[in-house]
Amino acid sequence: MNRNGPHISVRDLSVFYGDHCALENVNVDVPRQKITAIIGPSGCGKTTLLRCFNRLTDLTEGVKISGQVLVDGEDIYSRGIDVTQVRKKMGLLSQKPFPLPMSIYDNVAYGPRLYGLNDGKKLDEAVERYLRMAGLWEEVHNRLKSPATKLSAGQQQRLCLARGLAVEPEAILGDEPTSALDPISARRIEEAFVALKANYTIVIVTHILRQARRLADYVLFMYMGKLVEHGPAEQVLNDPKEDRTRAYVKGEIS
Ligand SMILES: Nc1ncnc2c1ncn2[C@@H]1O[C@H](COP(=O)(O)OP(=O)(O)OP(=O)(O)O)[C@@H](O)[C@H]1O
Ligand SMILES: [Mg+2]
Repeated sequence: MNRNGPHISVRDLSVFYGDHCALENVNVDVPRQKITAIIGPSGCGKTTLLRCFNRLTDLTEGVKISGQVLVDGEDIYSRGIDVTQVRKKMGLLSQKPFPLPMSIYDNVAYGPRLYGLNDGKKLDEAVERYLRMAGLWEEVHNRLKSPATKLSAGQQQRLCLARGLAVEPEAILGDEPTSALDPISARRIEEAFVALKANYTIVIVTHILRQARRLADYVLFMYMGKLVEHGPAEQVLNDPKEDRTRAYVKGEIS
């Protein structure tokens, strides 16, 4: 296992849904402990690529995947890989918050309990730690036993982040994780990401260029299933090499 190199390396990755080519020969290294943004017009393959990082794309019926996705140098598509372990390492935050139908506390304690943590005091500490990491503790510490569904959408999304963190992933994958939220709630998630990148590799899909500008250290620009350009955010967003990227960041194609 190589922890000095890129966290995720994509090699010659192609994905077909039936006859439709959704990703064509993608090659890229995703840096460790940085925020990487995947940008590009609707239908260009952002979600497909993100979901290849935790083996969710291969749940789609009729999908064909070729190439490699190396996580810490190990191909997660090779035979004998434990897919549950891959999904544990690569936590996913979806577009809409889906809290479990249980209390705030139990949502966060769910993962640790599943992995065998039953000591009450240690569970309390874990729940507090992950709620703090998600920037939600102050708002909920005096109502931990109330149902998660009573929280606002923005709070629910931070709860889902806390629940994800509680299974101790190494990367956080977010597919437009703020698109269902109001601007203030979106900022709270963004703030949590910025704080978390010291310890986690974060990859987000976003169609909001301003969000990419605020958050991203590294940017992947995709167009019609191809990775057109990738590099440091500053370069891709402000001084792109490719005409298509330039048109996209100028808002000429959307
Ligand atoms: N389950 C599926 N079956 C067939 N085609 C699919 C499936 N999922 C995605 N596609 C197609 O693959 C292409 C890439 O889809 P994907 O969802 O990765 O795009 P995206 O960049 O995330 O788009 P958006 O910005 O709209 O979310 C699209 O043409 C889409 O229609
Ligand atoms: Mg998508």
